[in-house]
Amino acid sequence: MTQSLTILGLESSCDDTAAAVVRQSDGDMAEVLSSVVFGQTELHSAYGGVVPEIAARAHAEKLDLCVIEALKEAGVSFQDLDAVAVTAGPGLIGGVMSGVMCAKGIAAATGLPLVGVNHLAGHALTPRLTDDIAFPYLMLLVSGGHCQYLIVRGHEDFTRLGGTIDDAPGEAFDKTARLLGLPQPGGPSVQAEAETGDPKRFRFPRPLLDRPDCNLSFSGLKTALMRMRDQIVAEKGGLTRQDRADLCAGFQAAVVDTLAEKTRRALTIYMEENPATPTVAVAGGVAANTAIRAALQTVCADAGAAFTAPPLRLCTDNAAMIAYAGLERFKSGARDGLDLTARPRWPLDQTSPALIGSGKKGAKA
Ligand code: KG4
Ligand code: ZN
Repeated sequence: MTQSLTILGLESSCDDTAAAVVRQSDGDMAEVLSSVVFGQTELHSAYGGVVPEIAARAHAEKLDLCVIEALKEAGVSFQDLDAVAVTAGPGLIGGVMSGVMCAKGIAAATGLPLVGVNHLAGHALTPRLTDDIAFPYLMLLVSGGHCQYLIVRGHEDFTRLGGTIDDAPGEAFDKTARLLGLPQPGGPSVQAEAETGDPKRFRFPRPLLDRPDCNLSFSGLKTALMRMRDQIVAEKGGLTRQDRADLCAGFQAAVVDTLAEKTRRALTIYMEENPATPTVAVAGGVAANTAIRAALQTVCADAGAAFTAPPLRLCTDNAAMIAYAGLERFKSGARDGLDLTARPRWPLDQTSPALIGSGKKGAKA
């Protein structure tokens, strides 16, 4: 008899309130039955960043509506579920607590098992949900809150090869947009401007490329951009459309070059250990950037590695990835009690040293 597992997932660790239902039958690929995301961009737009208290309140208001919508879209009820999975960290603590409390309420009321999920594991396991990728693989997680290289060996077995020591790349795109008066989120607006810009007019630094490791740094790019902008304003009284496009193109080229070179290094380390069928996967909102995608594809092709990028709606924050990571934990026998705690920090690789710096989601995991 084939066994089928149906999991409800909840996500509320930053500025997206999300619920989703994922189902997997024995031997089949998992299927996303529904994935509902309520974004909060407009609630925070006046403040230039995510305001944790506003985010937590909005999550608390929207979570139950999200759950109802996700169950309805999936055509299932609580009785059809096998477990409820929830992001238990890392992230903005008020938001994570909202999700954990909601999931505990569902578990207490329905008797469903509760499974706490690491948000980063959700991102890191997404290529298994979308493309059925086998372990191990090399993951580059690039978002507004995170940036790290991980060897993914199992659903709870991660080795971090390196990560950002300050800003995440999405954060750098967002700050660049803010400095140039472009709309948020900054990634898409900076990418659009860069298309008509000259990447060579301004020479941005390539941070940490002089160091042999896989760590990255993006905060210096923002400082360099500010200096260049201020110099043009001092000389000409303001920025022209072309100045803005050239600054965006120069900034983006620096991010692309840095990510490409560090990916090359991470891949070399990874392939020493796993030479047979190397696969690189990327996840996180910054994976939407076409120049970054193209550069990563080239690095992989040069090294003879396969490259996978999940569809964008599953690259950015969503609850389907949480339901899927919960499903993998559930299958391995993991269950959490009603004493499950919300964790602001929760590194995937407990053995690697903590990364310094603080991002959109608070302290880096
Ligand atoms: O994964 P995500 O939705 O949220 C988290 O940060 O967890 O990523 C959002 C980030 C934002 O910083 C946004 O500016 C960036 O991804 N982003 C991009 C692009 N689209 C979104 N960055 C560069 N190029 C893009 N096309
Ligand atoms: Zn995320």
